[in-house]
Amino acid sequence: MDIKKIEKTENLSKLARDHLWLHFTRHSTYYGKNATPVPIIVRGEGIYIYTESGDKKIDGLAALFCCQVGHGRKELADAASKQMMELDYFPLWSYAHPMACRLAKRLAEYAPGDLNRVFFSSSGSESVESAFKLAKQHFKLKGQSNKFKVLSRQYAYHGTTQGALTITGIPFAQAPFHPITPGGVRIPNTNFYRAQEHLKDDEDAFGIWATDRIEEAIELEGADSICALFLEPVQNSGGCFPPPPGYLERVREICTRNDILFVADETITAFGRLGEIFAVNRFNVIPDIITCAKGLTSGYMPLGAMIASDVLFEPFQEGDTMMPHGYTYGGHPVSCAVAMANLDIFEKENLCQYVRDTEGYFLDTLKEKLAHLEIVGDIRGCGFFYGIEMVSNKEKRSMFEDHEIEVLIRGFLSGKLFELGLYCRADDRGEPVIQLAPPLNITREEIYTMVSIVETTLKEAYAFLLEYRNVLEMEINNSKLNMLNLTVIDEDAEEDVEENVSSVLSPSSKLLAERLARSRSNSLNEQARSRSSSLAERMKKLNNSQEVSSNSD
Ligand SMILES: Cc1ncc(COP(=O)(O)O)c(C=O)c1O
Repeated sequence: MDIKKIEKTENLSKLARDHLWLHFTRHSTYYGKNATPVPIIVRGEGIYIYTESGDKKIDGLAALFCCQVGHGRKELADAASKQMMELDYFPLWSYAHPMACRLAKRLAEYAPGDLNRVFFSSSGSESVESAFKLAKQHFKLKGQSNKFKVLSRQYAYHGTTQGALTITGIPFAQAPFHPITPGGVRIPNTNFYRAQEHLKDDEDAFGIWATDRIEEAIELEGADSICALFLEPVQNSGGCFPPPPGYLERVREICTRNDILFVADETITAFGRLGEIFAVNRFNVIPDIITCAKGLTSGYMPLGAMIASDVLFEPFQEGDTMMPHGYTYGGHPVSCAVAMANLDIFEKENLCQYVRDTEGYFLDTLKEKLAHLEIVGDIRGCGFFYGIEMVSNKEKRSMFEDHEIEVLIRGFLSGKLFELGLYCRADDRGEPVIQLAPPLNITREEIYTMVSIVETTLKEAYAFLLEYRNVLEMEINNSKLNMLNLTVIDEDAEEDVEENVSSVLSPSSKLLAERLARSRSNSLNEQARSRSSSLAERMKKLNNSQEVSSNSD
């Protein structure tokens, strides 16, 4: 077989579409008349990634909050290669290998307090899973078998395995898998921008309010039924929620007082993202357990860790007590060697200090270029970790309707950002946000360029949104709703629906119709149905108000 010929004719995007099952992805985007190709990333260098066709994009998300030291670092490849030749693989099941020993010691040194005991895994989910199991076993060993529940915050993402999923506070991620592992209890997150009216100008009061809700949840559930509280020092999902002043200290105090383990899930926040190896050090709190992964190897190899306090490990030093838990690849020698080389780079290049020195510039640039935009409600975060929350109405801080989010986030923003040269996240797990978390060695000039791309995209997004709304208004005025409704009811008539939607919208904007069609990453029927139900709602309101005014005439 002629290998060169195969490579030349290879259509990777098609292979991806036909054979890959992409994670958290609507595959319908890749099928049908308005299909978009699966983007193929072939190379990375520094803060840049390159597509199959050679386009260069800024990696504004460190791949997936992983690539702290930038792409293409030879030191890491060399460390992996050397380790493979020395000891390719050996498990940490009753044996150890040099790299795991050294890395465990190094992590214990970075971690605060007496967090000296490192259990390696292969991912964030596995680390969270391990911490959840340890918390349960810890209380069982103390004769408190009833302590199995776990507190975590709204919209927080803590992983997808069955145990971690219970801690993940995102209903859409849980919904298809009910009944899920029992015990998950939600507490509020710390989105200060969305604080209630009486708290929205007082961050201290908001922090007290948020911790009061934790106390309330504990009282309601019973402290004797809760084993742990999981939170990220700065919550990622929902768009970078920093802790209000004093919040984490109070969480620590509440956990101690109620005999609940405080787990800091640092899967994203560790390894320089917030200017410290562990973000808890930035906020001066000592949890009972830290979970981490991602930046530990800068994503070059899979590796996670659960770092537990000496106190938690104590019972396991005696008699026949053990934790019946482990992963074949947890603490893989090659991953540990890469992690050691990665941390060497952190120290050699003083990356944490660089983040601390540059975060002010990063935030100022974001504020200067984006804060005045009509579509931007809030800019928040710290370190090299920022969320830009978008709003329907800036003054009222009002949220978008579902169909607008669909069209804006899925249909416009992600594609546009990428087209203009930036890979980052446009996310709608909470309110819609754009998130930026680039490699930590990004320069000031590159930060400026990256934020400029976001600025251009958001300006275009706002224009697009206004256009979209105009067309919807026109539809109402032209009373074309019935036609739309009639069409979308027919499940089998997807092509007809598409044509009809286009024709309904076309008087005002052919472009919009095309973009709407492009945005149908789920199915056009679903979007049209959501649009039509929202239109129907508005039509009803319009009719009601007309009735009211005609009655009163
Ligand atoms: C805070 C947090 N915990 C856990 C996880 C799960 O990590 P993984 O995808 O490596 O399983 C993530 C992933 O993004 C995360 O952000």
